[in-house]
Amino acid sequence: MRQEALSKPMALGHDIFPRVQPHIYTWINKYGKNYLSWDGVRAELVISEPELIKENMTPAVISSVETMLEKWKGYVGKEIELFEEFRLLTSEVISRTAFGNKLTLVSFYSKLWEPADVLLSEELANEIQGCVMKMIKKREDRVVNGGADSFGNDFLGLHVNAYHDLDDKNMLSLGDLVDECKTFCLAGQDTVNSLLAWTIFLLAIHGDWQEKARREVIDIFGNQNPHSEGIVKLKIMTMIINETLRLYGPANGLIRKVGREVQIGKLVLPANIDLYVANVVPQHDPQLWGDDVHLFKPERFAEGIAKATKYNAAAFCPFGIGPRSCVGMSFATMETKIALSMILQRYTISLSPAYVHSPISVITIQPEHGIQVILKSLHSNV
Ligand code: HEM
Repeated sequence: MRQEALSKPMALGHDIFPRVQPHIYTWINKYGKNYLSWDGVRAELVISEPELIKENMTPAVISSVETMLEKWKGYVGKEIELFEEFRLLTSEVISRTAFGNKLTLVSFYSKLWEPADVLLSEELANEIQGCVMKMIKKREDRVVNGGADSFGNDFLGLHVNAYHDLDDKNMLSLGDLVDECKTFCLAGQDTVNSLLAWTIFLLAIHGDWQEKARREVIDIFGNQNPHSEGIVKLKIMTMIINETLRLYGPANGLIRKVGREVQIGKLVLPANIDLYVANVVPQHDPQLWGDDVHLFKPERFAEGIAKATKYNAAAFCPFGIGPRSCVGMSFATMETKIALSMILQRYTISLSPAYVHSPISVITIQPEHGIQVILKSLHSNV
């Protein structure tokens, strides 16, 4: 088929699919958008329906949010501290979606902030390595015992696959695998924890925006759980999240190593120095955002980020910029939107008088004393 398709040049048009993948083109037309074919002795399911192509993490996130909200039922009308609630939620979400288990690796993170001497640090590093090795072994055993025919296609599975790659060039060392797991866990949990907490805080003190966000959520989902088609329509919520990221962006600096002499703008940087890109500074700069820079005004983002920043990409880059920018950006926003939607469907939130405003930087920007709020139920049966 391929030979025939490539036997002569095509007319100057753009319908290249029948030419570059003639077999898939032919079989989709014959058998439908999803079909099973054989690659030697291995069955291969070909999917081309957009609904199936979208990797759907929403059920895992929804189920974790449901668990959290179940607990909240006992706090209606009382004070509840949400930074810790969101820590548990985001830990569970990253554990389930990236590692396919419940809270094994993330449980070490609370220990990272405890003061420790070299010996204790080494002990912790060994514990983390042991935990990752256990998770790898579990995946390997499942394949060996015939319980699964691959290591899985989540974050851990793909890395275990690379760890077993026979080609030296592609093979991931155990040390790299452990480091990747640590990075992913920290990058994926702490950040969303912080974003969720600050967004709820801002909505608690800006009741008008809380109401606007709730109306949008109810318009789109009613009282049903969020779904991916609706999540992309959440415009008000996107504006609120962007404004929260501008004011309380979790990641408050990007670090680079300068490998060889380079010039950036008027600066010539010698090799072997570290560069700290203070990406938060432009986000609080009145010259870029106006005199109301320190006010919570999601309407800045009504016409998108490009308009809000007057086409200056460096004015707002909470997920970093360039080739090393955040790989989890869409996952993080999806997780945040699901959690916020489900909370807003059920509760109005006001700040508790016990709240003390003290943002601090502990890798991410965190509320030092937590976020205490009072929940009021919107439904009599909740
Ligand atoms: C609100 C949530 C988040 C924010 C604000 C955020 C922000 C960032 C920033 C600023 C960077 C550094 C980019 C750079 O150095 O230029 C980064 C890197 C990274 N993020 Fe996120 N992130 C978030 C959520 C997530 C999630 C949920 C995941 C995983 C599921 C994730 C995975 C990563 C990884 C693996 C890197 C390292 C990329 C690399 O070095 O190539 N992040 N993130």
